Amino acid sequence: MAEKHFKYVIVGGGVAAGYAAREFAKQGVKPGELAVISKEAVAPYERPALSKAYLFPEGAARLPGFHVCVGSGGESLLPEWYTEKGIELLLSTEIVKADLACKTLTSAAGATFKYDILIIATGSTVIRLTDFGVQGADAKNISYLREIDDADKLIEAIKAKKNGKAVIVGGGYIGLELGAVMKINNFDVTMVYPEPWCMPRLFTAGIAAFYEGYYAKKGIEIIKGTVAVGFDSEANGEVKAVKLKDGRVLDADIVVVGVGGRPLTTLFKGQIEEEKGGIKTDGFFKTSVPGVYAVGDVATFPMKLYNEIRRVEHVDHARKSAEQAVKAIKANEEGKSIDDYDYLPFFYSRSFDLSWQFYGDNVGDTVLFGDSDPSSPKPKFGSYWIKDGKVVGAFLEGGTPEENKAIAKVAKLQPPVENLDLLAKEGLTFACKM
Ligand code: FDA
Ligand code: NAD
Repeated sequence: MAEKHFKYVIVGGGVAAGYAAREFAKQGVKPGELAVISKEAVAPYERPALSKAYLFPEGAARLPGFHVCVGSGGESLLPEWYTEKGIELLLSTEIVKADLACKTLTSAAGATFKYDILIIATGSTVIRLTDFGVQGADAKNISYLREIDDADKLIEAIKAKKNGKAVIVGGGYIGLELGAVMKINNFDVTMVYPEPWCMPRLFTAGIAAFYEGYYAKKGIEIIKGTVAVGFDSEANGEVKAVKLKDGRVLDADIVVVGVGGRPLTTLFKGQIEEEKGGIKTDGFFKTSVPGVYAVGDVATFPMKLYNEIRRVEHVDHARKSAEQAVKAIKANEEGKSIDDYDYLPFFYSRSFDLSWQFYGDNVGDTVLFGDSDPSSPKPKFGSYWIKDGKVVGAFLEGGTPEENKAIAKVAKLQPPVENLDLLAKEGLTFACKM
């Protein structure tokens, strides 16, 4: 099979790949210099849409409506855009072997790609219940959500099991967003997770109490403190029940599992330095291998603000790390330098009529402020995290764009606070007066 050579290759065709391609175009890339190789069949798109508007029963988002970079207010990069720019977009092409010493990638179909500079943007894959040998977890209609094909399969199941029963396994991002979207699709929804409250990675008990109360009001049943230990199936292989560790058995027509992700680093194992489960990079997303960069979910990078090495599995960082890597590559070619990455963590989610944003670090003491009553007609509340006498993180549900900007500013500036009761009383005003 023919061998192709490119000056730059991006392996992966998700959020980071799309934003990197745009940055290459901005910086000036010559036709034929850049290839984006993706195992997905469609051009890079804004992945967050898959767990939200893509699954709506009416007015659903569909491609080409959410290709990158619309999620950050940019132009939509349709497949034609790549052609116009002379960027080779190789879709439905899975790389199965990477030889970093020989600067060669090999696809499942046996094609080889040589590069001078490689950007690894392979993102994450889902953790499956079959990975821990959960009995019956390979039944039909047990769904995971990572790529557009997964979402399409789920839509088929939603149509086939109209108004049925859905069990959501996991109380993280996927759990909360899919619990809501299955309810909007008129399913009878039960959520199951092992922790004492939802999204413990980020939420305090106070924040979680609001969302759990709101979901309960929408008619979603929440079962906490237990896990799914097995599944029963119909004779045709379709799931029919979820067995819980506490002995309960829940009827289910569809099960959606969101028990976490795992960065896709397997191709590069043993060839590159890893840390905290990801590929170790510097503040320019350069890895331990010369000419190889890693961005998005797979990168473990120096978080300057906290003087720590971290990995971030969120879209804002996927976009910004991709841009930073391309700027660094181009600056390096011109003998120039750029500032190293100085990232302020930003996470968000939307479900039902709710919308929250979080900036900074969720460590230290916390105060809850505002109206966090799930029965309020327009709840608006938030939380600050305080460490060593400084506000280091801020969360806000129901904020306006200006208010969200204000909490971002607080998390970045880290103002000192002496009295936490006073801070709780001041609430959002504290951020808005910064
Ligand atoms: P991403 O997963 O986007 O892309 C990786 C790409 O590499 C994929 O196209 C994959 O097929 C390809 N690939 C992998 N291995 C390959 C191989 N061997 N050969 C070829 N191609 C290969 N974040 C947030 O902040 N807010 C939100 O609301 C959401 N919502 C959300 C919903 C859902 C359903 C998911 C799954 C995730 C989110 N996220 C999110 C997280 C966010 O989408 C995620 O952090 C970014 O997509 C990461 O971007 P990457 O480009 O690193 O990976
Ligand atoms: P997550 O880490 O957010 O949540 C995993 C959850 O799984 C845990 O909170 C726990 O409740 C649960 N869990 C773990 N083991 C379990 C078990 N055996 N049985 C039942 N529950 C169990 O991961 P996720 O929700 O699967 O999300 C996957 C990836 O997609 C992450 O990278 C996430 O950041 C990303 N994502 C982000 C967003 C967003 O930022 N709005 C939305 C969707 C997905």
